[in-house]
Amino acid sequence: MNDPIRKAVFPVGGLGTRFLPATKVMPKEMLVVVDKPLIQHAVEEAAAAGIEEFIFVTAAGKTMLEDHFDACAELVTALKAKNKSAELKMLEAIAPAGTRFSATRQPEPLGLGHAVWCARHLVGDEPFAVMLPDDLVLSGTPCLKQLVDAYGRVGGNLVAVMDVPKAHTDRYGILDVESDEGTEGGLASVRGLVEKPSPAEAPSTLSIIGRYVLQPAVFDELERGRRGAGNEIQLTDAMAELIGRQPFHGLRFAGTRYDCGDKVGWLEANLAFALARDDMGPAVEAALSRTGFARSTNR
Ligand code: UTP
Repeated sequence: MNDPIRKAVFPVGGLGTRFLPATKVMPKEMLVVVDKPLIQHAVEEAAAAGIEEFIFVTAAGKTMLEDHFDACAELVTALKAKNKSAELKMLEAIAPAGTRFSATRQPEPLGLGHAVWCARHLVGDEPFAVMLPDDLVLSGTPCLKQLVDAYGRVGGNLVAVMDVPKAHTDRYGILDVESDEGTEGGLASVRGLVEKPSPAEAPSTLSIIGRYVLQPAVFDELERGRRGAGNEIQLTDAMAELIGRQPFHGLRFAGTRYDCGDKVGWLEANLAFALARDDMGPAVEAALSRTGFARSTNR
């Protein structure tokens, strides 16, 4: 029996430079997709996978993220006075009963691996999930739930993966696979991991997106503080050290991933998530076909 995954780490210490000027003051994870900040999309996905404890690794200027999940007595009183019950329900759903939120600081942005290491005392000695909120996945079954279900079958460490164009391997952590079921929902057995390899050096085009299930042994590897690609402490390098000692799989998740740390990716996510909603999808579709949206519009 594999230990359950109860905790998720949300590394939110990055600078979000690709989304300036929006992210000058506002954390990237507070960018809204349709009507919810990215961090809330991520927390809801984690809750749907059975996560009970949400651990934010924050940095200076990121308190808005914690505030979003705090009780807000004034707003509740105002909504009650106005009999706004639908809005009240919406507020209550932000931090569901039985869940716990905690936060720790990453003192310097030394890389994703360093951010995860900063959460070691809050995670303790148990397997845990890592979620990058700027990777948003539209899917039938929430992406982290797919990963946790696969963990129930094979245990060890798992990463959600997808094929990327060969020319883009230098943007991702890339898998070297021993075997690969090759189908949606299938598992690839991992024999190596490389962070941001050039297309010529990439062992495959199977890339890691921001969903992980990891064993606590990864903290011992991160503890060494080795610098990797971009002179950052890379999570990929620490995970690579676990291969051979513990099971390590990539899951070809079912769904579409949007890079919301990128302006075009974020716009695409807004359209896809709005179109997928029963309450507004038809209206958004009608608006899109009405306007036609050629590049020349309004220039
Ligand atoms: P990104 O590579 O997207 O970097 O980080 P970034 O700084 O957030 O954004 P850009 O590239 O400057 O626009 C991937 C994830 O790792 C977290 C980020 O918050 C994001 O969730 N991260 C990265 C940290 O928490 N700390 C770091 O030191 C680096």
